[in-house]
Amino acid sequence: MASDLERRQFLAAASGGIAALGSPALSFAQSLAQPSAASPRERLSLDYGWRFIQADLPFPRIDGHEASYAHAKAGNAEGAAAVDYDDSDWGSVDLPHDFARAQPVEPTANLSEGYKPRGIGWYRRTFALDPADRGRHLELQFDGIATFATVWLNGNLVHRNFCGYTGFTLDLTPFAQFGEDLNTLAVRADANALEGWWYEGAGLYRHVWLTKRDAVHIATHGVHCDPRQDAAGGWTVPVEAELYNSGAADRAVELRATLLDPEGRTVASGRMSARVGVLDRAPASLTLPVSAPRLWSVETPTLYTVRLELAASGVLLDAIDTAIGFRTLRFDPDLGFFLNDKSLKLKGVCVHQDMGGVGVAVPDSLWDFRLRRLKAMGANALRSSHNPPASELLDAADRLGVLVTDENRNFNVSEDYLPQLEWMVRRDRNHPSVILWSVCNEESIQGTETGVQMVRRMVHAVKALDPVRPVTAAMNSGMFATANISQVVDVVGFNYQVSDYDRFHAENPERPLFSSEDTSAYMTRGEFKTDMQRHVLSSYDDEHAAWGETYRDGWKAVATRPFMAGGFMWTGFDYRGEPTPFEWPTVSSSFGAMDLCGFPKTAFYLRQAMWVEDRPILALAPHWTWPGREGQPIQVMAICNAERVVLTLNGRQVADLKMDPFEMASCELTYRPGRLEAVAYRGGDVVAQTAVETVGAPVRLALSPDRPSLAGDGRDAQPIAVLALDAAGRAVPTANLPVTFQIAGGRIVGLGNGDPNSHESDAPGLNGAHRTLYNGLAQVIVQTDRGADGVLTLTARSPGLAPAATHIAVRKVASPPMVARAQSVQTLTEWRQSPPSPTPLDPTVKLADNDMNSWGWTKPGSAQVPLPAGRYTLFRVAFTPRSAVQRAGGRIVFGRLAGRAEIWLDGRRVATKSDPGVGRVAIALPPGAAEHTLTLLFDAPEGGPPFGVVGAVSVEAIA
Ligand code: GAL
Repeated sequence: MASDLERRQFLAAASGGIAALGSPALSFAQSLAQPSAASPRERLSLDYGWRFIQADLPFPRIDGHEASYAHAKAGNAEGAAAVDYDDSDWGSVDLPHDFARAQPVEPTANLSEGYKPRGIGWYRRTFALDPADRGRHLELQFDGIATFATVWLNGNLVHRNFCGYTGFTLDLTPFAQFGEDLNTLAVRADANALEGWWYEGAGLYRHVWLTKRDAVHIATHGVHCDPRQDAAGGWTVPVEAELYNSGAADRAVELRATLLDPEGRTVASGRMSARVGVLDRAPASLTLPVSAPRLWSVETPTLYTVRLELAASGVLLDAIDTAIGFRTLRFDPDLGFFLNDKSLKLKGVCVHQDMGGVGVAVPDSLWDFRLRRLKAMGANALRSSHNPPASELLDAADRLGVLVTDENRNFNVSEDYLPQLEWMVRRDRNHPSVILWSVCNEESIQGTETGVQMVRRMVHAVKALDPVRPVTAAMNSGMFATANISQVVDVVGFNYQVSDYDRFHAENPERPLFSSEDTSAYMTRGEFKTDMQRHVLSSYDDEHAAWGETYRDGWKAVATRPFMAGGFMWTGFDYRGEPTPFEWPTVSSSFGAMDLCGFPKTAFYLRQAMWVEDRPILALAPHWTWPGREGQPIQVMAICNAERVVLTLNGRQVADLKMDPFEMASCELTYRPGRLEAVAYRGGDVVAQTAVETVGAPVRLALSPDRPSLAGDGRDAQPIAVLALDAAGRAVPTANLPVTFQIAGGRIVGLGNGDPNSHESDAPGLNGAHRTLYNGLAQVIVQTDRGADGVLTLTARSPGLAPAATHIAVRKVASPPMVARAQSVQTLTEWRQSPPSPTPLDPTVKLADNDMNSWGWTKPGSAQVPLPAGRYTLFRVAFTPRSAVQRAGGRIVFGRLAGRAEIWLDGRRVATKSDPGVGRVAIALPPGAAEHTLTLLFDAPEGGPPFGVVGAVSVEAIA
């Protein structure tokens, strides 16, 4: 931990600059107690309280001169993008939110997207900003929207996003409104747009944040502090920070960098000075020397922290922590991959981002779950195919020790698209887990000059941001063409094309090679016979795509070639869409070593036996419950990383199998109910034992949570496995029973069972949460409520079976700081103001539709001083009330009205304010859907008090 003395010295040294206006002085007492909380930066979640509608709301036709003129002005977006749009009948949702998830599958929808209709959705969110935030730098951060998105802020179109996997930030500062003037965000998410050939979800499926920083601050994704090892083996952390100043004065600043070890002790620090011009960016860099850091590896993922503190005039302006890891990586053309100078075969899986039950709206803690499942299988690497992942996945990979190939989505080097790749590198380049940047996957121009020209530019863009990590491209053909993209990347990725591994290596001995994708085998969990009628695939590893190999052969081809740096199996988990080799009614893929929920298939154990080296692995396939098959032959597969496996059935030895490290071993046994036991031997010693048993009919349910406790922060989530047990308490692998669920102390956010043919809803419905067990298993994903403290109880019931309940301790924790949702109120902001007149004006006077200039434009705000030129002024606004007021009537409330005024509604005087001071005025508004014209006639004699619409004017429903 950085000492208080160091902090004081740093701030004292930084105090030579210009005074920091409005920045809170650092409280040392506070910083001593909670150094990490000393940062004046606030990062607030905007995940809660969005209004949502799944519909494409057309923009109204703009007609007439005044409407056209007004429409073309800042802040006047129309339709659902308008500040004043009436969203009161929309639903209410929290993020992450995938609006395709709850859609019923339809045979006419796109097979690739899992037969889920996607469509268009609108989101709106209203929030207030504290007047104390004036002068701070305010930024909105959207982590990902599927798929094309348009964003409006306070009626201004502020962003168009054309990649569902790329986040973006919006500078809210110039648009911000404070106090009672609310801020309105509107987002149109067009998920009819396709970017992939897999399930992509729909809507605001990642997080949204509001960051408040000093006007002078460290820019978002502006920190680069990836450690380097020099030729002599010494380590440094080169720290680069991009500073930004949205304030009104140049600032001299000091940047201090502190390297903290995993225990929070300072191991190095440094500082440098910079000057940041007005509305300008400035780079700041320094290098921290480090001696003998503990290395980050897949076995020991040791994380250090780089703490950056920015100060001026003795005041801390900004502070940010970045996790880093010390590790080296190298791809050798003959010997493959090296991590920390040790050879390491990449035992990788490709993954898409959806998970059974939640679609692409994956709660953060489920990334940990999924990565833990992959590590349990022996995987050490993941390819985020074919898009940048959620950053929380990378955080989990850093913590758990999983190597990541980070992949770009759109292969396009135009000015519209190259920034997507740059965004990925900028966001992810400090993660020790990221070892490769992949610029593309299977592009048909991979063997052409055009492809080469594109990849050259992409590599160049990557290297400008990260000169160290190698760049790759996943190729499935063209690698022998005269001009092809393998020539311009650092490491070549092969998708399939196993028969070309050797030729490519021989012809390109200087190019490191790995399998970016292989296998594409498939099995349906718990099924052991392919049945093309039922759309199920055998789990004996005898089914694969024409272009792929079995789970065993795919790895053997990589493992037996030292020059192959490793391989990424297609895929770690099943995903929605791409139901190869089937079509409707199959809605999800079957390539995974695990199903959609993360339940293991035979493939999980096959890869485990081939990948895990530090412990014995032993599994048998299939299960041993085959009523009606007595006396018939059953194929048994022993899956084991030992030398020999002996099988006994009901105490009698029935096989003595010599294990092949890739093939494993299979035999045929005559089925007799009972207990089939396997004993694994290595060098004559028993190293593992397992058994499968014939089980009885299910009599009760069981629930098996992934973790015994959850944080009550409204975010923490976990899957709970649902099983059926027989009278002896054994899991019944053939149970396919309907189950209903009740929850108390939390909520159900997703349901699944891993059946690629299931059309049941993944979302709990109005009449409860249901899911059928598929081959003995189902899964419920539960999440805590914000502020929860106590116990989450899930109960499962199935007709004729004893119910099950599980109790999960919910720890009270501070909820993440969030932006409160403000009640959206209709406010009247677009006022016209007549020129002042010495004689009374007619409040019913018409203003020509084409006259944009005789009357001015004004917004509620400051009061006006009466002029000698005339004491009478008209203010006018037109509006249509929102539906609740249309139905029941309401009132127009002037928060602060200054001066004497007559108030006219639709040509009739409805009130008079005779008090010349500032006051609140409310007038009744009758029901009705018509547009209203509201006119104020101010009587403000020269020398009198100021007049005008000083505060917000709102149209409120009668409560
Ligand atoms: C590859 C492709 C993957 C997936 C896979 C199925 O060609 O890169 O996205 O479609 O085939 O085998």
